[in-house]
Amino acid sequence: MQETSLLNQLARSLLTGQVNASADPHRPLWHLAPAVGLLNDPNGFIQARGRYHLFYQWNPLACKHGAKFWGHWSSRDLVQWRHEPVALVPSEEYERNGCYSGSAVEQDGRIMLVYTGNVKYQDGNRTAYQCLAREQDDGHYEKLGPVLFLPAGYTGHVRDPKVWQHQGQWYMVLAAQDEAKQGKVLLYRSPDLHQWESLGEIAGSGLNGMGEFGYMWECPDLFRLDDSDVLISCPQGVAPQGERFRNLFQAGYVLGQLDYAKGQFPHGAFEELDLGFEFYAPQTTLAADGRRLMFGWMGLPDEHEASQPTIAHGWIHCMTCPRELTLRDGKLYQLPVAELSALRREPLAWQGIADEAPPLPARSAELHLKPEGPFSLALREAATLSWDGRCLSLERRNWHTGEREQRTWRGELDELRLLLDSSSIEIFINQGAAAMSARYFPGEAATMRLSGTARLGLQHWSLAASVIE
Ligand code: FRU
Repeated sequence: MQETSLLNQLARSLLTGQVNASADPHRPLWHLAPAVGLLNDPNGFIQARGRYHLFYQWNPLACKHGAKFWGHWSSRDLVQWRHEPVALVPSEEYERNGCYSGSAVEQDGRIMLVYTGNVKYQDGNRTAYQCLAREQDDGHYEKLGPVLFLPAGYTGHVRDPKVWQHQGQWYMVLAAQDEAKQGKVLLYRSPDLHQWESLGEIAGSGLNGMGEFGYMWECPDLFRLDDSDVLISCPQGVAPQGERFRNLFQAGYVLGQLDYAKGQFPHGAFEELDLGFEFYAPQTTLAADGRRLMFGWMGLPDEHEASQPTIAHGWIHCMTCPRELTLRDGKLYQLPVAELSALRREPLAWQGIADEAPPLPARSAELHLKPEGPFSLALREAATLSWDGRCLSLERRNWHTGEREQRTWRGELDELRLLLDSSSIEIFINQGAAAMSARYFPGEAATMRLSGTARLGLQHWSLAASVIE
């Protein structure tokens, strides 16, 4: 479809939908959410010329998945964001069913987007093109077209290029499904972002001792952290194992050493990145100060999306908070970026017995807890976090079935950090050794209440709103 026609539809959708979307009490006060329509994966996360850029999978025309656009926000500090011109509109034949996920790099002082042009056929088949777009002086992106076609031996499910530079060459990891319907991660190399040479499969189901591990590995991301290479990916089709892999699709990582010359990546076991209900398709970038930062999508595809209450207000889904990744004792840690402390207001410190703690504001808040014994935290009557001395459990009402459901973490609990926004909870356990993210849709109650006989210390802040300008 013509670009002007798509942009006209987008404008109309914004003009008619924005008032209703902004009036939603579930709308986040400081998390990134779409003005209207559906948001999914973070894309093209990069810091360039002193600003962070975060692009996102966006269907501005409906609260459903469809032919995705790339929305674009930028920020100096990861706290105050501004809308930038829409970066990609699915107007060309090679992307007619969506400008799917991808990444950004800087080349000759300009941001280059590397993304997937998704094409679906009437018979249910599809193909995919890996495409380039180059930043223009006025903030628009000029499409340079496909640079990589479907490789032989794979189905049409080949997408989500993540590109980085290493020793003067560009490298790309790409999600793929082979003809035996096994999920794989492919590695490519290029001198110029235009010509790509295959270095083969570096990870996936049936490789590196993984056994059967899913029919598709979406959104791979490979980067160096200290003395390891980290591969993040999102396997689909992995069955639950006890308390592990409870969500429909997984988002996790393996640690290893990438042999760039041989195209091999021996690695360790797959670990989930987040033990909550909603976390998927994360993407990282290297900040100028050396930190490895990550955004995730606080949602999952196909998980009763049509029943989410925000659809009544014409929008759905949001990003996680930006998180900093570090490695400790062979494990990935994640914590909210330090910049978010700029949102803190009205500090409160308290200690005593949980049962005697005051009710705490919870609409938009940060809470640090150091418990000595079992306690429970009722989150606006819509979710409960409880610790029984061995197991930390996050329980909520499923918005589709109405049933209670839970996610758990086990270990020695030292401290907890919670970030609450109107309809989301992010929990960081033991300085970020584990995380749990979830959406929830409380009614009016704006406070959370502690209970239990545990002695505990807490710090609480209300968090200021941060509108996207
Ligand atoms: C992950 C994903 C990607 C794809 C995009 C489409 O959520 O399915 O694999 O590129 O979303 O919006």
